[in-house]
Amino acid sequence: MAIQLTINDQLHHLDVAPDTPLLWVIRDQLELTGTKFGCGVASCGACTVHLNGTPIRSCVTPISVAAGGEIRTVEGLEGSGDPIAEAVQQAWGEKDVVQCGYCQSGQIMSAVGLLKETPNPSDEQIDSYMSGNVCRCATYVRVKDAIKTASDKLEG
Ligand code: FES
Ligand code: FES
Repeated sequence: MAIQLTINDQLHHLDVAPDTPLLWVIRDQLELTGTKFGCGVASCGACTVHLNGTPIRSCVTPISVAAGGEIRTVEGLEGSGDPIAEAVQQAWGEKDVVQCGYCQSGQIMSAVGLLKETPNPSDEQIDSYMSGNVCRCATYVRVKDAIKTASDKLEG
């Protein structure tokens, strides 16, 4: 099936089966390996990308659903000109959030999605929104701290 996909502001013409998960197109065909495979069943958040600005689990999103949409992966945050993306990336560095790193692109994509929806989230709102992003290194406290830091910077 011929598909047009815009990823990180670049248009791609692909020939893939319509039920191919977006994650495999991103990783295997486009070689954007920042997006990770964890569970494959929408339970860990490692594969989170944005579709039209909203976080989705790319492991369970068929390419046919994403076709025609605007996809952004973690690679596309850098230099995107999006102040929320920049504030989140900066806060992640300041708070030294990353441990092994495996879950972190998903955490960051979800954090950007959260702050787009809720610029000044409460602890409960952060916990609720981020609950689908699992971290086996248990960086949850630093993730929350970085989200608050980014929020404060954006508010200030
Ligand atoms: S790999 Fe997609 S949610 Fe776990
Ligand atoms: S930093 Fe290791 S899984 Fe989250």
